[in-house]
Amino acid sequence: MDKPVTAPMIKQAKGQRRLSMLTAYDYPFGLLADKSGVDMILIGDSLAMVVLGHEDTLSVTLDEMIHHCKPVSRAVTRALVIGDMPFMSYEPSVELALINAGRMVREGGVRAVKLEGAGLVLPQVEAMVQAGIPVQGHIGLTPQRVAQLGGFKVQGKTAEAAKKLVDESLALAEAGCFSIVLEAIPAPIAEKITEACPVPTIGIGAGVGCDGQVLVIHDILGLYDQFLPKFAKQYAKLSENIGDALTRFREEVEQGSFPGPEHSFSMDEDELKKLY
Ligand code: KIV
Repeated sequence: MDKPVTAPMIKQAKGQRRLSMLTAYDYPFGLLADKSGVDMILIGDSLAMVVLGHEDTLSVTLDEMIHHCKPVSRAVTRALVIGDMPFMSYEPSVELALINAGRMVREGGVRAVKLEGAGLVLPQVEAMVQAGIPVQGHIGLTPQRVAQLGGFKVQGKTAEAAKKLVDESLALAEAGCFSIVLEAIPAPIAEKITEACPVPTIGIGAGVGCDGQVLVIHDILGLYDQFLPKFAKQYAKLSENIGDALTRFREEVEQGSFPGPEHSFSMDEDELKKLY
């Protein structure tokens, strides 16, 4: 078996090789994602949207995140398992952030956490790293701030906004992040951030110039067909296959062709005769 991936290994990969990250939210997908050989598996708060059916990521709770971190952590033996800190589980204070990150690690079994934003949360990042919890940053489109951003919009489109993103990435790296997710940022800006930033950048909707890429597993597999972001690539259309299988089951039940003899249990004829 390959050696388990650690946060220092991810940090050291900068400039050496491209990194890959996938989301997973349960045991079977944890197993499949790990088997694919990706470097990192994120239990993203996208859980709220693609699994729990919410409109955004704001309402998922720390307990719900931990509930889903547990099976993924049990499934994954190689990739670095990262748990997303949900909205308001780290912003209010350093103390709260430490307690909640500690719960993600101890109860959820993750080996690192991710949080969104820069400025306000830099002391939280520093404290977590000092406490021994590796932290992944996330800047650009930060979905937990969707209300303030006015929607799921591309960020860093002006020179001033782009400069701010470069500064945020440097501040997060300085605070101790081992890598930083760049979401929905124009490709040339993500490239500039990647050049300037000493830790790996993991892009989602940020072009090929990042050090690595992440996608939501439901988008890749075509499992979630309500909405596909422009930046996501569908490598399969599983919702069609699943839909076909479920419809065939219903039809066969209605026609009486399922279950067949091969799916049924028989019994001794003599025993059966005793009944009548
Ligand atoms: O919640 C999530 O899935 C994420 C990724 C898109 C990076 O934050």
